[in-house]
Amino acid sequence: MTPEASDLCGSTDSRTETMSAAPGPAASEVAASGAAVPGAVTPATAQLVFADVGLAVTVKAGTRIIEMSEKIGSAITYGCRAGECGTCITRIVDGMDHLSEPSALETRVLKDNLAGRHDRLACQCQVLGGVVTVRPG
Ligand code: FES
Repeated sequence: MTPEASDLCGSTDSRTETMSAAPGPAASEVAASGAAVPGAVTPATAQLVFADVGLAVTVKAGTRIIEMSEKIGSAITYGCRAGECGTCITRIVDGMDHLSEPSALETRVLKDNLAGRHDRLACQCQVLGGVVTVRPG
């Protein structure tokens, strides 16, 4: 296992992100900001694996799938980006327990679109920790 991380320069937010070929290293193995600073508080991270492109990305806990899927070229598609259209239905291959609970709106949209029990809206759900593997729905 040789993680090759590349910093996603140009990010518009302050989230820490690293990428590696899936299956990637544990979230703690690679940090985009470089070496750990002794005594520094490390933000909680999660690993988000995009099965369709074979990439694992380490993200700050609370990151929505949409925030990374477009950056890394996943085939997940988007419409409204507001949890209303269902275009971004995404299959959670593994790690459903590491996602935020669906809102009433997301639950309704998933139901209206006959989504399966392993599906979530990529524009709405947040990765809270651990390892989550997704692919386009
Ligand atoms: S893009 Fe419309 S629900 Fe996610």
